[in-house]
Amino acid sequence: MARDCLLIRSAGPLSGEVTLEGAKNAVLVSIASLILADGLSRLTKVPASQDVYQMIKALGELGITASFDERTHELVVDATTVSGVTVSPEIMKSMRASILLMGPLLARCGSARIALPGGCSIGTRPVDLHLRAFVKMGAVLAQDGDFLEARVNGQLKGCRIVLDYPSVGATENIIMAALGARGVTEIVNAALEPEVLDFIELLKSMGAQIDFAFPATIVVQGDAPLHATTYCIMRDRLEAGTLLMAAAATGGSISIPDAPVSALELVLVKLEDMGHVITVGSQGKGVTLVATREMKPISFKTMPYPGFPTDLQAPMTVLMALAQGTSSVHETVFENRLMHVPELQKMGANIVVSGDRAIITGVKELSGASVVATDIRAAAALIIAGLVARGETAMTGTHHLFRGYEDLDKKLRSLGACIDFVN
Ligand code: UD1
Repeated sequence: MARDCLLIRSAGPLSGEVTLEGAKNAVLVSIASLILADGLSRLTKVPASQDVYQMIKALGELGITASFDERTHELVVDATTVSGVTVSPEIMKSMRASILLMGPLLARCGSARIALPGGCSIGTRPVDLHLRAFVKMGAVLAQDGDFLEARVNGQLKGCRIVLDYPSVGATENIIMAALGARGVTEIVNAALEPEVLDFIELLKSMGAQIDFAFPATIVVQGDAPLHATTYCIMRDRLEAGTLLMAAAATGGSISIPDAPVSALELVLVKLEDMGHVITVGSQGKGVTLVATREMKPISFKTMPYPGFPTDLQAPMTVLMALAQGTSSVHETVFENRLMHVPELQKMGANIVVSGDRAIITGVKELSGASVVATDIRAAAALIIAGLVARGETAMTGTHHLFRGYEDLDKKLRSLGACIDFVN
């Protein structure tokens, strides 16, 4: 069945218990890293999201076989041989995270040929930090039509890399390249997102030696003999945040027993500041939220971890749009991550955007409208808005939702939401 449009109606407070999928932002790089080890590796808790299928397709283009059981969420990858180094434009266009294949290909094969993201030329954003590091490690870059080629004569060499910005993708890509380099690589101003730390645990289970130093430095020993592994991906803190916010917006209550609480600290603090009651399970695992019906305004700035995650900015904006007073958001991580705002305005939200800041004055209610999701988290935000709005909301752009969430609609329905796909 085509699932192009999602119809959402208010059905009162959501309540109940849900469990989480594996983290979308940890799984893609984890799959890419399996290229590093000869043999049969197994990942568990792999979410059946569209980006995962694209990454599996990309492995296929490299001659690596993978079999994914979406029922058990288990992915088996056989990287005994890697027969190709090219990632096609089709894959790159649908998933920019394909750039994460460059590091492991350079480490294992000494070359990589990856389609450029549309309109992007060598050295410009958003992969300049990745490329500059590869060059410093001894790779030579060349543009060949729509492809970016990286090649190493001999072996990459370990070095000290000081990042301009703690980019998640650049940190991960450099770690993977560094594992195939001669000597030690130090990444200063590295990203330390929970997904990066989970990914490092996976690499350690393959035999990698990776340590941490101050300030925000990751130290990678090169040339380690890596072996195939079995690893369970961490639970998705961003899915947890989305579900907590859905329950909070509707005035409901939710329990998520497998939520990775330590990875959600500032988000939980902000929800508490709004007046919601948060209870953390014993030994810091699992969280329960009981919503207030009179939300207080809050303010936050998105920042690299442990700051407020940019991925939860859009869903949180919906709560702020219904709070009693004026809230503010400063989006500092991505330039164009306020694209959900015009859609929320169609639903009656009072939001004024100025550059990368939004001032949100709470309204009594939102109304259903026809809206378009422009990215994964905008889709989540519009669904939450639809769950509390008077009347019906029809959301198109649903493919963004499938890229990042497995069965979010089913989970919300299990909590009492009225939400259905139509053609
Ligand atoms: C990852 C996540 C994404 C999350 C983001 C920030 C995955 C698959 N995606 O994306 O959901 O929102 O981290 O937590 O894990 N930048 C450059 N040059 C570079 C690289 C990045 O200028 O070479 C800029 C980006 O344009 C952006 C900022 O740095 O403004 C953060 O990007 P980055 O941390 O790299 O995010 P991703 O790894 O792409």
